[in-house]
Amino acid sequence: MEEVLALIEKKKQEFAKSGLFELMRDQSIDPRQRLAFAPCVAPFVMSFGEFNKYVFREEPTNDPIQEIINKHSYEDDHHWLWFLEDLETLGINRTLKFSDALNFVWSEETKASRWVTYQIFRYACGASPISKLAIMEVIEATGNVFFSTAAPVAQELRTITQKELLYFGYFHLDVENSHSKDLSQKRALIENIQLTIESRQEAFEIVENLFEVFTKLTDELLVHAKTHSFDQPFAEPREILQPLKVA
Ligand SMILES: [Fe+2]
Repeated sequence: MEEVLALIEKKKQEFAKSGLFELMRDQSIDPRQRLAFAPCVAPFVMSFGEFNKYVFREEPTNDPIQEIINKHSYEDDHHWLWFLEDLETLGINRTLKFSDALNFVWSEETKASRWVTYQIFRYACGASPISKLAIMEVIEATGNVFFSTAAPVAQELRTITQKELLYFGYFHLDVENSHSKDLSQKRALIENIQLTIESRQEAFEIVENLFEVFTKLTDELLVHAKTHSFDQPFAEPREILQPLKVA
């Protein structure tokens, strides 16, 4: 498994160069605008809870790898609740016609957010614990980049609104970091898993493909943040030529 983890580390470094993270780090832009992509990531965030409950988790199990996955699935299956809270805090929780809300969730604008969901379901449904572990490690790696970039933005926002963001803030990052600490204690066990040629090939394919779809997701979120003012989250997309500066 060591080679798979090495590939994930390499891909993580490339992933971190995505334009979305550059925008999120740009302190000349209002922090609300740097998180203006939030509605767009909803399909993925909302599906991820179910993914943990019904696809990743498999009980009972005697497999030590599946046990790691099961434990992880309990830690990750309810974070969408924090996301819903953040929509309120970010002022995105507007009244919409139900059909307009559905239309947004299944629109072209949010396609990559759904696609990444379909891909993790595709790879994980009925998969071996090894394949699930590869999926979990990719999600951990991409999540780590995302949440460590988002948390300082949430912190800046807190100084303006006096309100704490749960999903995008340090609260979530701290929870994720404690999972990672747990995982790193199992690192030796994970690294030493011997893979067959076929399962290694399968894990490589999963890693390559999932990084690709997660990168497309960040591209989609970047477009959303650049074309939707944070105070008009569901308006027609338009280029925001002058990003709103910190007041
Ligand atoms: Fe999470």
